Amino acid sequence: MRNFVHTSHPSRVIFGTGTVGQVRDEVERLGCSRVLLLAGPAVAKAAARVRDVLGDLIVAEFDGAAMHTPVEVTERALDVLREHAADCLVAVGGGSTTGLAKALALRTELPQVILPTTYAGSEVTPVLGETQGGRKITQSSPAILPETVVYDVEFTRDLPVGMSVTSGVNALAHAVEALYSPQANPVIDGMALDAVGRIARALPVLVAQPSDTGARADLLHAAWLAGTCLASVGMGLHHKLCHTLGGTFGLPHAETHTVILPHAMAYNAPAAPDVMNRIAEALDVADAPSGVFDLIASVGGPTSLGRLGMAQADLPEAARLAVATPYPNPRELTYQGIESLLQDAWRGLRPASPAVHVPPALGATADLERLTEQVVASFADAPDPRVGQLLGDLVRHLHHFVTSNDVTESEWQHAVDFLTRTGQICTSTRQEFVLLSDTLGVSSIVDLLTNSRTPETTPSAVLGPFYTDGPPETAQGADISRGVAGTPLWADIRVTDTEDHPLPDAVVDVWQADKDGFYDVQLPEHEGPVLRGRLRTDDEGRLRFWTILPAEYPIPDDGPVGQMLQAVNRHPYRAPHLHFMISAPGHRRLITQLFVKGGPYLDSDTVFGVKEGLVIDFAPGTGPTPDGRAVDGEWRSLQFTFRIARIADAPAS
Ligand code: BEZ
Ligand code: FE
Repeated sequence: MRNFVHTSHPSRVIFGTGTVGQVRDEVERLGCSRVLLLAGPAVAKAAARVRDVLGDLIVAEFDGAAMHTPVEVTERALDVLREHAADCLVAVGGGSTTGLAKALALRTELPQVILPTTYAGSEVTPVLGETQGGRKITQSSPAILPETVVYDVEFTRDLPVGMSVTSGVNALAHAVEALYSPQANPVIDGMALDAVGRIARALPVLVAQPSDTGARADLLHAAWLAGTCLASVGMGLHHKLCHTLGGTFGLPHAETHTVILPHAMAYNAPAAPDVMNRIAEALDVADAPSGVFDLIASVGGPTSLGRLGMAQADLPEAARLAVATPYPNPRELTYQGIESLLQDAWRGLRPASPAVHVPPALGATADLERLTEQVVASFADAPDPRVGQLLGDLVRHLHHFVTSNDVTESEWQHAVDFLTRTGQICTSTRQEFVLLSDTLGVSSIVDLLTNSRTPETTPSAVLGPFYTDGPPETAQGADISRGVAGTPLWADIRVTDTEDHPLPDAVVDVWQADKDGFYDVQLPEHEGPVLRGRLRTDDEGRLRFWTILPAEYPIPDDGPVGQMLQAVNRHPYRAPHLHFMISAPGHRRLITQLFVKGGPYLDSDTVFGVKEGLVIDFAPGTGPTPDGRAVDGEWRSLQFTFRIARIADAPAS
């Protein structure tokens, strides 16, 4: 049992095909005999039918209605109305013509008869939005509500499919937001759910057969129901966002509604689960927001704000405006939440369906499996069986990924575009695919599988893009920083085998970032290499050198990988580290990194390179330096033993 308040608006509705034939009776029923006919050139055929029926009741016509109901236009129409002493307004058209009739009725109290040709629904609302000097003024009054609406399905038959889709989704938005409005009540719920079901059934039919009478009738009926919902209860986030996007950024009205609706629903879904379940049931899908997205995509409706001409750089401002003044909405509005909603809508992403995965119908599952097996079988004759095995398994995983996530065409296109851009940014010094592999953790997994299989050896870590071949030969005890500013660091390194026998004559390449997180190759002002060197262990397997303490740094993030990190709110930073590549005759080469204990990003390194055995105390130095070098202020000391495997001991990789 639910307490509620419901207000009905007194308008008379005549619905059907050929109902235009009743317009004369309706005018006379209102006690009128002098009609001002409002109809634009776009609805010439419908206007001619109305003229036939009204005959000598028409005393004047006006065809200049414009979008957003400018007051100047209304004043010109008022002159015509007064000049001919009209006593009734008959309007044929979409939102603009209906708006003009409402504006005239507000000023004259004349009765209105409206014959809609789109699915906007404004013919049943007592609301008028006018523009004066570029400002929009919205008001509500009983005088604005049309007395009679004559819905003639024939009048919508010629509405182009694209406009029918966006106009239909506009109506759907009224129904959806009515269901979670604070004023929602059982009368409105019934109308709204009826409208949702009709729209979902009608749109696909209409795309296949644009003049189908049943689909057109369903859509027009739904538009009336949804408009009635809009007239009775307050709207929420979706309408507010569309208002901001249309008003401040000039986006087209119905198209914007079409792009935003699934995302506004996804945002509100956690706070209105029952409403979403009822909508999903009416749509006959498992999840309402993604179901609405799929419906729109399947009928060719717009799904991306970017494609509507919105600049991505304007999204933060749009989000700020949308949350600037509070208004009722099921879920609290946060700047971050709305900004991320807009980013998804800008990209044309399908809202994630969190709750359930619906397996495809049984027959479809069998078809999909057969297709996967066919592709896998196509690799059976690969001359190198390893190639056949790898490609086959890749295809199985890819097909499973696509089916289990119900990947849509626009999502797959997005993935293809992403990989295309990843390739396009690659040069001889920029390897975006390696960065992608690093940031997805694949490089670290391949590295683990290949190099770190014995617990007795020092763990390995990824090579990274900043290694350069043939670093400068560096003598024991030398300073590889070559004067670059930073906290001096004394490194005292041993290289042994797994039984602690020292390995003399091992070649050890070292490279690192400076105190600001830059490698020399990123700073053209350095002449020749700095912060890198090639040293050789002495008879005791030792090497010592001076350098500086490395800092954390972002990986190159101005390309597709950076966009991917941003899209999931990940930072691009690596924890501070020194790189080592160690080669000793008869031993496996070790590529690894030593991380500064207590440094930032150790637990969120963006390439997942940090391993426990590699986080080392870079201890503050006390007393005189080990080689007697004079140091002003703080210095650090690093002592570490690398254990590497003999080739005979190493597991086959
Ligand atoms: C590096 O440590 O130099 C690095 C590793 C992977 C990606 C980017 C940088
Ligand atoms: Fe590095």
